[in-house]
Amino acid sequence: CGIVGYTGINQVLPSLLKGLEKLEYRGYDSAGVYVSNGAAGDFLIREKGRVSKLEAATKGKGIAGTAGIAHTRWATHGGVSVENAHPHMSEDGRFYLVHNGVIENYDELRDTYLQGVTLHSETDTEIAVQLIDKFSKEDQLSTLDAFRKMIALLDDNSAYGFLLMDRETPNLMYAAKKKSPLLIGVSDSGNVVTSDAAAMLDVTQNFIELMDGEVAIIDKAKVTLFDAAGQEITREAFHIDIDASETDKGVYPYYMLKEVDEQAIVARTLSQHYFDDDNQIQNIDPAIIEAIQSADRLYIVAAGTSYHAGLVGKRYFEQWTGKPTEVHISSEFAYDQPLLSDKPFFIFLSQSGETADSREVLDNVIKQGFGSLTIANVMNSTLTREADFALPLLAGPEIAVASTKAYTAQIIVEAILAHAAGNSTLDLKHELAKVAVEMQVIIDQKEVFKTIAESALRDRRSAFYIGRGLDAAVAVEAALKLKEISYVQTEGFAAGELKHGTISLIEEGTPVFALLTQTKTAGLVRGEIAQVTARGANAVIISSKALAKAGDAYVLPEVNELLMPLLTVIPAQLIAYYATLDRGLDVDRPRNLAKSVTVQ
Ligand code: G6P
Repeated sequence: CGIVGYTGINQVLPSLLKGLEKLEYRGYDSAGVYVSNGAAGDFLIREKGRVSKLEAATKGKGIAGTAGIAHTRWATHGGVSVENAHPHMSEDGRFYLVHNGVIENYDELRDTYLQGVTLHSETDTEIAVQLIDKFSKEDQLSTLDAFRKMIALLDDNSAYGFLLMDRETPNLMYAAKKKSPLLIGVSDSGNVVTSDAAAMLDVTQNFIELMDGEVAIIDKAKVTLFDAAGQEITREAFHIDIDASETDKGVYPYYMLKEVDEQAIVARTLSQHYFDDDNQIQNIDPAIIEAIQSADRLYIVAAGTSYHAGLVGKRYFEQWTGKPTEVHISSEFAYDQPLLSDKPFFIFLSQSGETADSREVLDNVIKQGFGSLTIANVMNSTLTREADFALPLLAGPEIAVASTKAYTAQIIVEAILAHAAGNSTLDLKHELAKVAVEMQVIIDQKEVFKTIAESALRDRRSAFYIGRGLDAAVAVEAALKLKEISYVQTEGFAAGELKHGTISLIEEGTPVFALLTQTKTAGLVRGEIAQVTARGANAVIISSKALAKAGDAYVLPEVNELLMPLLTVIPAQLIAYYATLDRGLDVDRPRNLAKSVTVQ
């Protein structure tokens, strides 16, 4: 979920709506806004669906006011409905609250404190706002104290970013956070609170970080911070150097296409950042290299596409550093930690740096005293701040839900790091330069993938991606791309495993995309392609130049075989894009998803 709030001298509604739009990557099941206008009245508008629907609903209502809060939701407790949309209101309409996170003991709090109170939603958030109301009335507490008392009742596992308004003090906002990120932005024209600085760059580029357990009161011209013990504290603002225009899609119809196109530039940027003119590694703290070298085993932990990038990175770490490397899904590792080696070192991969499942693992890792590095696109995010070390992906803002350039950037940074810590004889800087050139060649041929997508996938309900070795790693990512945005049920498979069961799903015309870039297993994969075509499949073969045969659907340009995943994935991204367009679906905002899953 995403939160924004503003109190200042300007009309608040346009900034809140614009901010929410930038936060839609955190969920878009419903959206809502509360604008306070003192004695002149206030407005609460909530809508199911995208921010654009909320915006339409605010038209013609004469909404005026210079303070307000807003929210875009990814449903956890309670279905997708207007009643469950934030902001939630206390019974008598005095308090308004937006929340990102999960209150684990909300049932118990309701039963203990709110007997007799009529609840209007199924959310944990409404419990929180009703508790604030109750404590302010019955215990005659100030709003700050009632807010604090409610927070103190939340159990340890709860996560929250809260932003509260009280109708009786219409210019004030109250903020608190634990595990979920919240930043306070400061400017001469007013102050903001936001889940992500990128949402409020039009108002300010200066932000104060709120830490776990802290509470803040935000007024037009003043921000007051309190630590967990209630003592007033001060903290300097930091400056964020991103231009608001970087998050615009420019001439592109969809962010995804823009981000696919940017991959060659990202590859070049990373190479320039991490290699100096003499081909030596730079901008990697030697302590990171030392930590890897002195570990006896590396653990890569991540979710979704980042996990898939880890599957590729494993090869580089094992081959170049000689360290056994395990790749784990964070939501599993968090609750079923495998037996660890004596000297493990953890590498977290994340686009956002905010994925709650990965944060949970990092918390556990820190408690156990193990070393950690986060490789993320969003620096200053929770995972980058809390790990011992952090390295940037430098991919620029990634907005489309389907991750593309963050995936290739992660693979590149893994390669560079493994190269820096290991004994590879590859001229990696030179090889990456070739990769960037060849990426551009593929991107420039996008029409080919439009044709492939339309001919192979129109009206199909299922599909497969197969490959061996590094191609198997890419196959799972390729399948995820296709299924998450086009809703074609797609499985990514190690080609040799297909015959042990799944081949029974192959029917006349079932598209099977075969990735064929690894010399050692190319013959075997050709055999597997024959097995599926013999059973009616429509095999679409994407091969490398050295391994191509007549009839292959697309021949990839040649780069070092270990780096082929950086090229192989691009046709898959574009096939997913065009198949989705062909179905008339929203490429950037697939149903049910959020780009950044900030709840466990
Ligand atoms: C969500 C996104 C995925 C992403 C995953 C991990 O599920 O929809 O695209 O791969 O989270 O996110 P992270 O920001 O940690 O890479």
